[in-house]
Amino acid sequence: MKIKTHGKIILIGEHSVVYGKPAIAIPFMDKELELTIKDSKENYLCSDFYNGKIKDLDGRLLGFKNLIKTFIDKYKISNKVKILIKSDIPLQRGMGSSASIAVAIAKGLYEYFKINYDINKIIDLASISEKYVHGNPSGIDIETIARDRAIWYIKNKETIDFPIDLDGYLVISDSGIKGSTKEAVSDVKTLYDKDDKYKSYVESLGELTFSAKQAIKEHNLKLLGEIMDKAQVYLRELSVSDPIIEEMIKLAKDAGALGAKLTGGGRGGCMIALSPDIKTAEKIKKKLNDLGKEVWISDLKKLKEE
Ligand code: PMV
Repeated sequence: MKIKTHGKIILIGEHSVVYGKPAIAIPFMDKELELTIKDSKENYLCSDFYNGKIKDLDGRLLGFKNLIKTFIDKYKISNKVKILIKSDIPLQRGMGSSASIAVAIAKGLYEYFKINYDINKIIDLASISEKYVHGNPSGIDIETIARDRAIWYIKNKETIDFPIDLDGYLVISDSGIKGSTKEAVSDVKTLYDKDDKYKSYVESLGELTFSAKQAIKEHNLKLLGEIMDKAQVYLRELSVSDPIIEEMIKLAKDAGALGAKLTGGGRGGCMIALSPDIKTAEKIKKKLNDLGKEVWISDLKKLKEE
């Protein structure tokens, strides 16, 4: 029995989504995780990030232990399993690595023990571990990865499939720097509570997400790019950008991107740039590669059928 999950990319609305504002996220099909479950004498987790008994999981990984324990207790499971994970989703880069592990484990357990499930059961179970990794997660990572579709998301309120019909390309680039979403979310909260100025930035990010929705519906790539640029200004003000991401954004813009911003928690992690055509996307990719950064080009037309 094998389970596959993908990474995710937040197009717009990160951080403000924690405050009940909308966000738009898409699956990142180029990054994949494969999970296998086998019979075992003890409960084991075998992966690049951990190899050992599940009962010894600790620190950032404690959430996975609690997810598995919740399932075992709920369904009174006595059989032991070995969970094997192979993932090419880099950790702590805003690509949803932890959520993809959580969703895969949740799905894998239901499948392996032949217990009926639906998407809500997967989301509920997977969300247990996200709380440990992120502190106060909005839930957007789990929702996007569990559904494997582009979504419009408002925390505890609305998850809607959001097909994107755009004639353009998203260039995704990894700064190579690990970001801590938990820390970034907590620092934004400190600013938000301290000064109304920061509250207004969060509000503005929320409004920009509504504008992005409209631009996407009107197939207006140029406008979407301008909205992404504006979102980056507010994210910068909220202290979640960093010099490397800013350099990557400038490079992408100089090479012809219609707009560019960080994606995910920030402070490192990844940058996304909107390109009108494949030639420009390749040009942006080359510039970022020359800077030593890994780059993927995603054809937005592929999201049309989602
Ligand atoms: O860093 P990531 O990919 O986990 O993105 C998190 C997005 C935030 O809005 C910053 C946090 C959240 O829980 O929504």
